[in-house]
Amino acid sequence: MAKILIATEKPFAKVAVDGIKEVAAEAGVDVVLLEKYTDKSELLTAVADVDAMIIRSDKIDNEVFDSAKKLKIVVRAGAGYDNVDLAAATNHGVVVMNTPGQNANAVAELVFGLLVFAVRNFYNGKAGTELKGKKLGILAYGNVGRCVATIAKGFGMEIYAYDAFCPAEVIAADGVKPVLSQDELFEKCEIVSLHIPATSETRQSINYELLNKMPKGGVLVNTARKEVINEAELLQLMCERTDLKFVTDIMPDADTEFKAYDGRYFSTPKKMGAQTAEANINAGLAAARQIVAYLKDGCTKYQVNK
Ligand code: 3PG
Repeated sequence: MAKILIATEKPFAKVAVDGIKEVAAEAGVDVVLLEKYTDKSELLTAVADVDAMIIRSDKIDNEVFDSAKKLKIVVRAGAGYDNVDLAAATNHGVVVMNTPGQNANAVAELVFGLLVFAVRNFYNGKAGTELKGKKLGILAYGNVGRCVATIAKGFGMEIYAYDAFCPAEVIAADGVKPVLSQDELFEKCEIVSLHIPATSETRQSINYELLNKMPKGGVLVNTARKEVINEAELLQLMCERTDLKFVTDIMPDADTEFKAYDGRYFSTPKKMGAQTAEANINAGLAAARQIVAYLKDGCTKYQVNK
């Protein structure tokens, strides 16, 4: 009997795990669970005899693939797969997939949770501002970016987006104003929400020069990846521009230094964007179904290491 390992340092809601087990049971596949592990050795032991894995932001490197002699497929229940060494997977003959869009609404809702908190001065009692009428810049118009735009309409915001890979007509069709460059987005918008993946092109790309283009009272919200921000340069800018705020769902390495900017900085203690029962169910069940479809029929839809 084939075996799926759910390896989640940050566990899914129980209802999602139960759902994954149901999908697997219907297909005659076993499920084993490794949650909240604190040492990589636990992961290396758990992968030894499994055919498939469902993971979240769990780091899957060459050593993990070396230890997983029977592994055929890893599905990242979520969007970003920068935590998986794709070259190592390919070298080991393992298929890697993600589940695009399945947790997008959860992440987008958190963007607004963070934004309202920021513009109301972190609920310190002093008069803040509203989101209505403000210019929101969405950097990368993928699944999360699109959900952010939908919610922003409800807030009555003026919405702009830039995406190097998404045609302007597609953005405009949603009633969102496409801009020609990242620079233009930061120049125009007092609020910018990051939705770019961490790639060799985007790492450290949100830097001093770009951020300094933001109008007075700028708010940067990050629910993407910490690696895309040049933290040293953002710190320098926050020191120089006392009007800027930074709210993030991914704790920066320089969290302690950012905390010096009291009233202008907030980080969730642990990445919470996709941490809803709904997102866990959507992404977890999609992952289980993709594994079953691959093991039974060789279906490689959503493979990312082709
Ligand atoms: C994703 O890439 O899907 C999100 O960043 C969510 O990550 P998580 O599953 O670790 O919460």
